[in-house]
Amino acid sequence: MRKTTLITGGAGYIGSHTAVALINAGHRVLVLDNLCNSCRECIARLELLTHTRVDFINGDIGDSILLDKIFSRYDIDAVVHFASLKSVEESIRKPLDYYANNVAGTLNLCRAMARHKVFNLVFSSSATVYGDPAKTPIPEDIGTGKPVNPYGRTKLMIEELLTDLCYADPRWSVGLLRYFNPIGAHESGMIGEDPSGRPNNLLPCLTQVAIGRIPELTVYGCDYPTVDGTCVRDYIHVVDLAHGHLKALEVLHEKGGINAWNLGTGVGYSVLQIIQSFEDITGISIPYRFAPRRVGDIAKCWADPRKAGRELGWTAQRDLEQMIVDTWRWQSRNPLGYRSPCVIPSLMTVK
Ligand code: NAD
Ligand code: WQD
Repeated sequence: MRKTTLITGGAGYIGSHTAVALINAGHRVLVLDNLCNSCRECIARLELLTHTRVDFINGDIGDSILLDKIFSRYDIDAVVHFASLKSVEESIRKPLDYYANNVAGTLNLCRAMARHKVFNLVFSSSATVYGDPAKTPIPEDIGTGKPVNPYGRTKLMIEELLTDLCYADPRWSVGLLRYFNPIGAHESGMIGEDPSGRPNNLLPCLTQVAIGRIPELTVYGCDYPTVDGTCVRDYIHVVDLAHGHLKALEVLHEKGGINAWNLGTGVGYSVLQIIQSFEDITGISIPYRFAPRRVGDIAKCWADPRKAGRELGWTAQRDLEQMIVDTWRWQSRNPLGYRSPCVIPSLMTVK
């Protein structure tokens, strides 16, 4: 039986792009997702995009019986673990849901992996584990800080859980991938970010203004100590992020223990710079108004990505223009996300 990579949360935004990268690199993948923030249409599009049948199980990482069946039935040699709730705002209202789903769910997954002797794990962590960093760019060895919301605390708790696990049992090999701000979409325009309900992140809000679904963009804060008073972030193309997982998987097969890697570009852009770039690239003007600072936002956050460069042989390849072009292609072709009819690029060019 061919070795399989289990992708939890593989019907979601980053997981689906990583599935494409892994399939294109020759991996056999199995997607496990409970579809709480995604839909089957994403899997259908993955199949169209990769010309492959994608094994998909609609299920929950909290379901031990299901996990035992999966690990018994497939020859899994690594898990890429995206499954998580991810809304900062919701985590403040429903902390128990976040600790149960993210922390207890990961614990359950690790127990099942150990039962079936699968010890390679790539975990979706976040720059949020640095809290409000003492300096930028942020290197991994600055140490973790104090995340300012329950979502961020679940990520830090999981990192600590996985670190303890690696110290206790040298068979484990774990990559903590600390993503900065993922944006963009696959260049085909067939898969992308499809937030349910009103989005909170900058790019989904901006593109929804551009398509007329939201009347204006609210810019939170204009008095930060930054280039123009608005917050600065390290935006990274989701396809670059996906390739980082591929590299991490390759390295983890040889390298044991716990390893943290920043996945960012090393370049920061302010909110106003993002709006200006979007307008310049698409020709669409974005009405916006300033509002008070959003609780929990930090002024500046961008990565020192050199450790990932040295140890994974990975650097982000796509610049801000590409991120915006691809985000806009996805959003304009799929104004209703995955509920929009699928446009297959290769068919469009056939006369
Ligand atoms: P997403 O919501 O699009 O994908 C997560 C997927 O996990 C969804 O498809 C959801 O249905 C599934 N899921 C959630 N709980 C599950 C469970 N208990 N069992 C099975 N499936 C479950 O989110 P995303 O943006 O693709 O994020 C992927 C990972 O990256 C998450 O762990 C997230 O915390 C982390 N992350 C995201 C960002 C970001 O800005 N998008 C930044 C840093 C880290
Ligand atoms: C970016 C900037 C906002 C929306 C969050 C999570 C983090 C990680 C990534 C998962 C900020 C401003 C936003 C809007 C705005 N997720 N903004 N108007 O806050 O850096 O990170 O997503 O791990 O944990 O906290 O990203 O896209 O929400 O905001 O002015 O309508 O855009 O204030 O300065 P953030 P974001």
